[in-house]
Amino acid sequence: MAIPERPLRAVRDARPWQPDGWQARPAAQMPTYDDPDELQSVLAQLSRLPPLVTSWEILTLKQLLADAQQGRRFLLQGGDCAESFADCNNEVIANRLKVLLQMSLVLIHGLRMPVVRVGRFAGQYAKPRSGDTETIDGVTLPVYRGDLVNGPEFTPEARRADPVRMLRGHARSAMTMNFVRALVDGGFADLHHPEYWNLSWVEHSPLATEYRRMVDGIGDAVRFMETLAGEPIASFQRAEFYTSHEALLLPYEQAMTRQVPRQWGWFDLSAHFPWIGMRTAATDGAHVEFCRGIRNPVAVKVGPSMQADHLQELVEILDPDDEPGRLTLIHRMGAGGIAQHLPRLIEAVKATGRRVLWVCDPMHGNTEKLGNGVKTRRFASIRSELEQAFDIHAAAGTRLGGVHLELTGEDVTECLGGARDLSEADLARAYKSTVDPRLNYEQSLELAMLIVRKSGRAESVRDLP
Ligand code: PEP
Ligand code: CO
Repeated sequence: MAIPERPLRAVRDARPWQPDGWQARPAAQMPTYDDPDELQSVLAQLSRLPPLVTSWEILTLKQLLADAQQGRRFLLQGGDCAESFADCNNEVIANRLKVLLQMSLVLIHGLRMPVVRVGRFAGQYAKPRSGDTETIDGVTLPVYRGDLVNGPEFTPEARRADPVRMLRGHARSAMTMNFVRALVDGGFADLHHPEYWNLSWVEHSPLATEYRRMVDGIGDAVRFMETLAGEPIASFQRAEFYTSHEALLLPYEQAMTRQVPRQWGWFDLSAHFPWIGMRTAATDGAHVEFCRGIRNPVAVKVGPSMQADHLQELVEILDPDDEPGRLTLIHRMGAGGIAQHLPRLIEAVKATGRRVLWVCDPMHGNTEKLGNGVKTRRFASIRSELEQAFDIHAAAGTRLGGVHLELTGEDVTECLGGARDLSEADLARAYKSTVDPRLNYEQSLELAMLIVRKSGRAESVRDLP
């Protein structure tokens, strides 16, 4: 289905839109900058810096998401809860890419379907928080809102909202993008060499044999097809990656929103695929106002407190033209809440007659705090929410078209359970996240195998315990 070339009704006729129009709306989760001149100077600099992505990449991704809405692709969206400036390094970036490549290989092979790969990276630096301040031992300071805003250390200096961090965040996003693009273009994503993606610490994983068997099968298939073609097939040598982050810090997003030659309208060029978080999804709020006017595909997180009429209004505001690929709904209900809340919200969207892409985030509804105050997630709950999501969509006649995960390529122990059955005692070994607990490599791969099994195309994947 072609993306319309001409301005859509929403932009042509309806409420006018400008990149700064959100400033007239209530803006939740926004830091207070204490020096307006400094802020303006940074934003002026930012708005002249090169974009991180291009409009044609954004429109291509919209087309791929439109395919996913039609059941012809599956979306794999994953990465850190929050990137940190300190983790903008070779190893962390390459390892995260390896995990996403391996997971997408499992999905492509098992689902017999192309996968759209979207990273929560190259800009996932701003975080919504439950309060504006944090008090420790009688001292109250502004809360940490992600490296794009302030620092995590509990000192007045670190917690000051510093506009210059937006320039540093832009630079680190550009460095991340540059490395990712160079890797995937330069042979790293080559299907002839999936061994490049192996992470040494999982050689002895309980899942390793299964994975290796699958990779061998793919190697045979690649050689067979190239023999038939009589030459190397170029598309086997590279993989597309798109970027996403929560469009939370609106001054930053506004400065990255541009008009481009030979295209109508505005593009947020800070990432291909921004999303609206659960805490900023008010229909009259600044974040929805901002996202309604950009031409990027956008997603909204949908939690258990979402009412049917609220969701219907969001669909109307964000996708008034029922444009293919434009709107993704990422539900994050929790294993205990999905059966109650997802069916009513599916029905609400069905009643609008609009097409959306339904994606499951099985992470954010399953966060719990242990007795010692450590935040964790149980693999069994994550798995359960995901399995229920497939079943609920199948029963409703809709389709689960993707997953949204928090994961890392590092050997962390932040989520409980999985093939190695991590226990509470294991969490102490390598808990590194400053925000939400992430799946480690092994747990991520296990989840990819589970998706294949659950979607009924599991002939090549062993029955998981
Ligand atoms: C997140 O994705 O990190 C997040 C904060 O999600 P949500 O808005 O769904 O809570
Ligand atoms: Co998170």
